[in-house]
Amino acid sequence: MKALTILCVGDIFGEPGRRALVAFLPRLRSELQIDLVVANVENAAAGFGVTPQLARGFLEAGVDVMTSGNHIWDRKEILGYIVKENLLLRPANYPSGTPGVGSVVVKAGAHQVGVLNLQGRTFMASIDCPFAKADEELERLRTETSVIVVDMHAEATSEKQAMGWYLDGRVSAVVGTHSHVQTADERILPGRTAYITDLGLTGPVDSVIGVEKDLAIQRFLTGMPNRFEPAKGRAAVQGVVIRIDPETGGAVGIERLRRDLPG
Ligand SMILES: [Fe+2]
Repeated sequence: MKALTILCVGDIFGEPGRRALVAFLPRLRSELQIDLVVANVENAAAGFGVTPQLARGFLEAGVDVMTSGNHIWDRKEILGYIVKENLLLRPANYPSGTPGVGSVVVKAGAHQVGVLNLQGRTFMASIDCPFAKADEELERLRTETSVIVVDMHAEATSEKQAMGWYLDGRVSAVVGTHSHVQTADERILPGRTAYITDLGLTGPVDSVIGVEKDLAIQRFLTGMPNRFEPAKGRAAVQGVVIRIDPETGGAVGIERLRRDLPG
């Protein structure tokens, strides 16, 4: 059995994140024999949302499926794009009638891979229940493929871990996004679901979760709103490489990844 290899890329933040991704993706694809690339793009446009032009650029650069989260609606022009391009997901548990889709099934070589995007509710907007929505989506996705990757976009570590356990044995991987700091807890759960609490940041290294550090410090010092901008300088790609048995959908490996671009 040749494992199916999926690269999950942590939240791409602003121009530094885009630059790092484009620099490393072709090399990573061949070096690690990647079959499919899933990337969270909700912070790609200067930290706030993603534009149609940037989304098209990611697909051209070799991203296969784009996931998102709470920042997906920041750029109004994305509304016209997301209703036509199902390779850009928004969290599935937004109320019914929300533009776009929360899951997709794509081809990776000879295999089909399902990608499901969910969003947490702890310290975040109170949208529909991500656990109940996962049940509903999986009922449908599992009729098409047993290889399923879930991006759980959430603030709370506990909610992401709970989702990992809730879906253990039913999906190939649950990867967390949104907090922009890579966690060191990657593992394969007993039901052969690969798990990590957060993929990390694809963006500026010398920053406060992507933002120019002086701007972030000012906001904490004064409590006053100010304009956040992406930090400049050194950038890195972060994420995980997951290997999956395509017959069963069970994960056989998960490794953290980080590649630094000099500033
Ligand atoms: Fe987010």
